[in-house]
Amino acid sequence: MTPPTRTRVLTGITTTGTPHLGNYVGAIRPTVQASRDLSTDGFYFLADYHALIKCDEPARIQRSTLEIAASWIASGLDPDKVIFYRQSDIPEIPELTWLLTCVTGKGVLNRAHAYKAAVDKNNAAGHDPDSDVSAGLFMYPVLMGADILMFKAHKVPVGRDQIQHIEMARDMASSFNHLYGEHFVLPEAVIEASVALLPGLDGRKMSKSYDNTIPLFAPAAQMRKQIAAIVTDSQAPGEPKTTEGSTLFQIYQAFANANETAAMARAYTDGIGWGDAKHMLFERIDREIAPMREHYQSLIDNPAHMDKILLSGADKARQLATPFMRELRHAVGLRALSLGSAAPVAKEAKTALPSFKQYREKDGQFYFKLVDSKGQILLQSLGFASAKEAGQTIVRLQSEGPDVLADLQPILEFAPQTADFLSEVLTLLKAHNAASQK
Ligand code: TRP
Repeated sequence: MTPPTRTRVLTGITTTGTPHLGNYVGAIRPTVQASRDLSTDGFYFLADYHALIKCDEPARIQRSTLEIAASWIASGLDPDKVIFYRQSDIPEIPELTWLLTCVTGKGVLNRAHAYKAAVDKNNAAGHDPDSDVSAGLFMYPVLMGADILMFKAHKVPVGRDQIQHIEMARDMASSFNHLYGEHFVLPEAVIEASVALLPGLDGRKMSKSYDNTIPLFAPAAQMRKQIAAIVTDSQAPGEPKTTEGSTLFQIYQAFANANETAAMARAYTDGIGWGDAKHMLFERIDREIAPMREHYQSLIDNPAHMDKILLSGADKARQLATPFMRELRHAVGLRALSLGSAAPVAKEAKTALPSFKQYREKDGQFYFKLVDSKGQILLQSLGFASAKEAGQTIVRLQSEGPDVLADLQPILEFAPQTADFLSEVLTLLKAHNAASQK
């Protein structure tokens, strides 16, 4: 395995709802900011397979996927600078989920918070412990492990409730690596401590499940109305007010800078009326959101364009996932029967591996071929003018793996029916090459 040298940051968002201000402050805004760090590679995806665990309304899944994708882009995520994709566009994800399922203890999944909470609730109600619990909910952490491990993510920004899942992904990676060789990177959770937990209209955490949210891109008039509905106490204008425990103040703080926040605190002491405070809050939020609202609407109005963006992201993602999955299939023994039992790639396989032979023909040109241990020719090059060119092409085939096949097709000859086999051989050679350079 060649570990990526640049830090990879990956996170997913489940597509079941309409993004609200809490999502924006807690996840979208900090993630978009982090995505601008040019020293890291960002992977951001719409976790629509995860959505199926909680939601059986097809229209809602589809609508939410569009809304969340549009929210991220309107908030500044640049799909040309990161890999932005939809989980269900990557067939390798469910494929990897199965391999990981087979190295994950059932007992470990029994202890996953979301599953345990469902069981506890059933027990408390006197129901069967697994009543209404789908196997999908039970398997949730494995699917998430596949999301993360597929792209060798180093850092995974998540909320606190997700830390356990990242730890499980690490365990899956370790178990797999222990059994089959070093293939996976062990990921780490990143918890952004400075990110505000936004209270909702009623003062509890802003969350879909409490029905106390303010949609991020609601029309301005609706947002104004909802802000007016934030619960306050009955203190009259002129009475000094305390910022502590004030929902309104907390939301204001999440959008304002230090000076603005200090000014609002003074206004509280000076007895600002709730109506005026709400007006200031609306103005402050709208100043940040209004410029993005139009972009959001244009994205929502053009879903075909969004499909294109997401498919192009999936394309980039699969350029990594497809060869990696091939490597993993090979590692567990799902491989061509004719390939011998080339056990651990780096060690015993050495003698059994096909190798390149370089030679010169009577025409004065330089050639090479890839020959297996029994002398069968797998691949034959056309003539090169110099030995150096032929040599460089061999190096590419050895180090870049099967992806170069398409590139080099015009100067190579091989039977089309051996293309898959050849890909597998090149994946092996690449892994072997990387291992021997360590
Ligand atoms: N389970 C995450 C959540 O609900 C979403 C998610 C799915 C995710 N796959 C992921 C987050 C992989 C980070 C990495 O918040």
